[in-house]
Amino acid sequence: MYLRLENISKRFNSFVANHNISFTVDAGKIHGILGENGAGKTTLMNIISGLYQPDTGKIYLEDKLVKITSPKGAIKLGIGIVYQHFMLVPKLTVTENIILGRENNWCLNLREKQQEIAALSQAYGLEIDPTDKIENLPVGTQQRVEILKVLYRQAQLLILDEPTAVLIPTEVELLINILRQLAAAGKTIIFISHKLKEVINLCDTITVLRRGKVVATTTAKEVTPQQLAELMVGREVALQVNKSASVLGKVIVSVQNLSVANDRDIPAVRNVSFELRAGEILGIAGVDGNGQRELADAIAGLRSINNDKIEFSSSCTHQRIGYIPEDRQKMGLVLQFSIAQNLILNTFKKLPFCRNFLLQPLAIKNYAQVVMKEFDIRATGEDIKVSQLSGGNQQKVVLARELAGEPNLIIAMQPTRGLDVGATAAIHSQLLAQRDRGAAILYISTELEEVMAMSDRIAVIYRGEFVAILDAQTATIEEIGLLMAGGTRRG
Ligand SMILES: Nc1ncnc2c1ncn2[C@@H]1O[C@H](COP(=O)(O)OP(=O)(O)OP(=O)(O)O)[C@@H](O)[C@H]1O
Ligand SMILES: [Mg+2]
Repeated sequence: MYLRLENISKRFNSFVANHNISFTVDAGKIHGILGENGAGKTTLMNIISGLYQPDTGKIYLEDKLVKITSPKGAIKLGIGIVYQHFMLVPKLTVTENIILGRENNWCLNLREKQQEIAALSQAYGLEIDPTDKIENLPVGTQQRVEILKVLYRQAQLLILDEPTAVLIPTEVELLINILRQLAAAGKTIIFISHKLKEVINLCDTITVLRRGKVVATTTAKEVTPQQLAELMVGREVALQVNKSASVLGKVIVSVQNLSVANDRDIPAVRNVSFELRAGEILGIAGVDGNGQRELADAIAGLRSINNDKIEFSSSCTHQRIGYIPEDRQKMGLVLQFSIAQNLILNTFKKLPFCRNFLLQPLAIKNYAQVVMKEFDIRATGEDIKVSQLSGGNQQKVVLARELAGEPNLIIAMQPTRGLDVGATAAIHSQLLAQRDRGAAILYISTELEEVMAMSDRIAVIYRGEFVAILDAQTATIEEIGLLMAGGTRRG
């Protein structure tokens, strides 16, 4: 057996993030870790990779008791972690990033290093060009660089924390093949994901955490997604979206021949036209980076356009738009503010949060406590900084704020990214409830199955153009997949 954890516990003040966690992983195997948002997965990985010290418990590598006192110490022991938010330097090349902090600059032969890294990438089937600059690479390739970096440091145990959350389906397939190859070559892998099918498909064994404790360790062969979901959450979870027929109201927003440039002033949205009605969800399906971000920003009023192109119904002003941006850490939240402060970012100037120009701490606190219950935001209190929340709970804070106050129009971009199955189901039903009360919803996601399940109509965006708008009831996955990839429509 390669790794053995024995009764690992870790607290943050009075909060127990990991409680007596024990499991083993055999050499050359892929071990999945599942658990709700905030269950303690990342904390545990941070302990194994030397970032945190456990309060109690022991770690054995190849049956030897080890003390992992720092990330450097972990690397020395052959432990490598690929974080969810990559740690690469955008301006440097693949090679420079991989050798960063490893080599003495004064005797560096860059060409030699490039060859070494090319050989390494070939050996493990991780296709990259060692001379490419990171900033020019798609996310999936950047991730391969992170994996190579870990392999270059001769890791035997590789930890990947939600590696597929940022990948498109074809990149996920590539990654899964790479991980299988690495395991076949004798590497031991810990894989964290909220996508149950993926975990069952890839992993040999699975440990499920709930509220800091191990609730089950099992082999992938003997469980179904439904069983895993129940183990994680502790109750039955609807993995399918149940939606009623839509009742369409008046047009909330009408977009005519809209074109939008991206940050580098290159056209990103081209000539897009559509109408969105009250009570309707228009899904936008497309591969990441085909203009979705710019379209969402333009409609939310965050990007300048020729004003005549977007017309809102008289009841829908910008104050009544809920916007769930794609990057919660950069755009959705002020990480150094508390949960309560983040929840009132749009409304703090109004009653009851502000009276005679004075903030009302009690009203703010009470409101936050109610919302935290409603949205199941897990934290010890409303005064906790958002930076200390688990990824999924951060996302719930954004949603709670943007869905408050009955918006007419909701722009939801990747609203369930990083959320566990229970939270995903809850967000789906919250958005459907908003639709049924009469909100118009633009639902943008790279997860095709999710777009199909949630939408009434689906627009496929490709290179900034709507190449088709389809009825969600009759559209097929194959048809949309083809259009997303730039294919043309049959018949
Ligand atoms: N540095 C910290 N200070 C205080 N609390 C923390 C800290 N790091 C994590 N926590 C808390 O510990 C709990 C576990 O967090 P962790 O990030 O391990 O969850 P997770 O299982 O990775 O969740 P997710 O699926 O959302 O990524 C959370 O409630 C979080 O708020
Ligand atoms: Mg995590």
